[in-house]
Amino acid sequence: MSSTTKKSHVAALAFPFASHPNVLLHLVQKLAAAAPNVTFSFFNTTISNQKLFSTIKLHGGYENIKSYDVHDGAPEGYVFSGNPLDPINYFIKATPDNFKKRLEEVVDETGLKISCLLTDAFLGFSAEIAKELGIPWVPFWTAGPHSLSAHLYTDAILKALASAGGAQNEDRTLEFLPGLSAIHASDLPIELLSDNLDQPFPKMLYNMILAFPRAKAIVQNCFDGLDPTVTNDLKSKLNQVLNIGPLVLPSQESSFKLEDQFNCLAWLNKQEKSSVAYICFGTMLTPPPQELLALTEAIQEKNVPYIWSFQDDSKLPMLKEFFERTNNIGKVVPWTPQLEVLAHQSVGVFITHCGWSSLMESIACGVPMICRPFFGDQKLNRRVIEDVWQIGVGIKGGVLTKGGMLSALDMVLEMEIGNKMRVNIAQLKECATKAVAENGSSCENFKILLEIVTSSQDE
Ligand SMILES: *[C@@H]1O[C@H](CO)[C@@H](O)[C@H](O)[C@H]1NC(C)=O
Ligand SMILES: *[C@@H]1O[C@H](CO)[C@@H](O)[C@H](O)[C@H]1NC(C)=O
Ligand SMILES: *[C@@H]1O[C@H](CO)[C@@H](O)[C@H](O)[C@H]1NC(C)=O
Repeated sequence: MSSTTKKSHVAALAFPFASHPNVLLHLVQKLAAAAPNVTFSFFNTTISNQKLFSTIKLHGGYENIKSYDVHDGAPEGYVFSGNPLDPINYFIKATPDNFKKRLEEVVDETGLKISCLLTDAFLGFSAEIAKELGIPWVPFWTAGPHSLSAHLYTDAILKALASAGGAQNEDRTLEFLPGLSAIHASDLPIELLSDNLDQPFPKMLYNMILAFPRAKAIVQNCFDGLDPTVTNDLKSKLNQVLNIGPLVLPSQESSFKLEDQFNCLAWLNKQEKSSVAYICFGTMLTPPPQELLALTEAIQEKNVPYIWSFQDDSKLPMLKEFFERTNNIGKVVPWTPQLEVLAHQSVGVFITHCGWSSLMESIACGVPMICRPFFGDQKLNRRVIEDVWQIGVGIKGGVLTKGGMLSALDMVLEMEIGNKMRVNIAQLKECATKAVAENGSSCENFKILLEIVTSSQDE
């Protein structure tokens, strides 16, 4: 029986922090466009479900995606304490019951049984929900293959580090793991190294790897050619690893294009080729004041044209004078259509926190990076960018200083090593472009994924 003659109903469960829900929604949009007759229900916490979904509506359709709010677990009257872990811990404590309750309500409301759970991989408890419902669980790992592999090898890593003097032994490398020999202990996410499984977040991640064997397939926003050793090792350990990235390429997906409301592209049109530094540290945080100042001093001294996606209003006053003084070479905006900015020929370097989605976009556009990683998988990504792929550089000492920034800018924009980076990233870009093209590995994997998530159960 064809998959569309029965009603399929895919429930997508988000991990509502940083760019996680946005990336999952992106995947859901792609699937929904490819399977217009399948219903997709997107579960996320309340705060900006509405905002995101109103922008989608602007860009035509997706009548088959509906969003549903789940409880965020925060106590009545909760006021953000300033510690980003607090909302995460509240949320984790509310799982899985908040999702289960909402799923039941939605089945009642729509009269449609759920036929597949497509979830952020962090939500490992979904394996159990899927089992109870008798449907497949498909986790989406929104970060990269190296960090996925490191999580899978958590036990082996902790054991090796313990015998080598603990995680304090920062220079210890993971040469005993396939494809991870360049990674140092100090690059690993702190949650992975935590042996305190009473803490909600480390416990959630550990439960995730225990749940992976029960996944029907594991989806990643990367492509097979990116790191074959790690990818092949993952494929040998997990049921079905489907690399379907990059999720977006600048040349396609016009329906995902977002409004350039601050006229970034017009401004870029007036700049010289490969001259501009694009600065964005992601949605979660802004570097501390002294680092911001160091960055501005370096930019000013070198007179580098810049476009800065700056989202933290509380730190704007501090830089106001800099922004005014440099408005002949710079543009500061609260938001950019990042992919199109990176794809613009004027952009020569991306100053980034090394979040995985940003990294994939940089590769998709062939722009080398200067890295200031903060947490999670970001340090590990920096290591791979600099030491494995050689498509960017970290900052000496790991934090933004004027001297460190000046030398990183020199390396990428002026020195021979910068040319080498551009050649390397152009090769990855070509490989990415082939992967998503017809018959490419990501394109074929997407078809397999589509078949898994849209086929209804009782066939
Ligand atoms: C979707 O359903 C409509 C009406 O039931 C049908 O005509 C159409 O062929 C279906 N489209 C796809 C892509 O299956
Ligand atoms: C999901 O919820 C979080 C927290 O409320 C919000 O920041 C995010 O924008 C939402 N994402 C989507 C895709 O709805
Ligand atoms: C894709 O593969 C099919 C079947 O092998 C072939 O007919 C087609 O020409 C290929 N398309 C491209 C763009 O290579």
